[in-house]
Amino acid sequence: MQFPEYRPRRMRRTESLRRLVRETVVRPDDFVFPIFVVPGKGVRKPISSLPGQAQVSVDEAVADAKECESLGIPAVILFGVPDKKDAVGSEAWNDEGLVQKATRAIKQACPELTVMLDACFDEYTTHGHCGVVVDGDVDNDATLENLGRVALSQARAGADVIAPSGMMDGFVGWVRESLDEEGFEQIPIMAYSAKYASCFYGPFREAAGTASDFGHRKAYQMDPANGHEAIREVTLDAGEGADIIMVKPALAYLDVIARVRDEIDLPIAAYNVSGEYAMLKAAAANNWIDHDRAVLETLTSIKRAGADMILTYHAKEAAKLLRRG
Ligand code: PBG
Repeated sequence: MQFPEYRPRRMRRTESLRRLVRETVVRPDDFVFPIFVVPGKGVRKPISSLPGQAQVSVDEAVADAKECESLGIPAVILFGVPDKKDAVGSEAWNDEGLVQKATRAIKQACPELTVMLDACFDEYTTHGHCGVVVDGDVDNDATLENLGRVALSQARAGADVIAPSGMMDGFVGWVRESLDEEGFEQIPIMAYSAKYASCFYGPFREAAGTASDFGHRKAYQMDPANGHEAIREVTLDAGEGADIIMVKPALAYLDVIARVRDEIDLPIAAYNVSGEYAMLKAAAANNWIDHDRAVLETLTSIKRAGADMILTYHAKEAAKLLRRG
């Protein structure tokens, strides 16, 4: 059927017709809200590169978690911003560490809310890399040993989902085995499977207080030019027992999300990262784009590409916008 018999505009004529044929719907159910936990009490320190976001102490993290729950957001992911750092990031597996404490407090206040924990070392190491550095490079297998310790400490604290993010080879299988050996076979793993060496993590550095003394992450995170390789990575992680596959960042990698959707029948998470959030906020602050529409259009595009859930700093404001309808 061709014009003039077929006129695609017919089904766009009214809002109710558009609603009937809308293919993608974003809901608060789709969101995971990231929280940066710092030491202290009553602390809520704004992050200048992420307007509207703050580093919070454990008590304030509980307040954020309660707000998420009341907005219908099912999950939060916690990042620790400790004042103690060392060469291997041992604070990451301290049972009395910040995210461990915050997890216990949030689970007590909001037992139904899902608490995800990022299992990595970059916030905990003096050099800012995601593991044990040997001869100027992150040593894969030495890092795995410590990653097992982190996952167990997080599971003991009551985390509902463990999310290893360091892009070490074999990390999903290693975490799975470590958890199963200690009786945590019910805890799912969300694997940062296709995580690219991206400049869009820029503002996260300030938010998470990660140092970067030397080098880059190109020797463990993926080359932004590679799409087929993402399929190899997610296939490996699925084989090692990942329960959720992540693609990160989201916006410059929507094609990767769509390809992974076609290849893998596991739930897919997309991380709408700090730089993506910061760009939108900066353009909106200049009145160059309509903030609210940009937020919802961005989130819709990530879902349309194939993501089941979106880790996003927009979670709370988007949930409010969606509630208003
Ligand atoms: C690693 C981690 C990073 C982010 C989430 N987990 C930083 C990195 O890999 O360089 C970035 C998230 C964002 O930019 O919003 N622990």
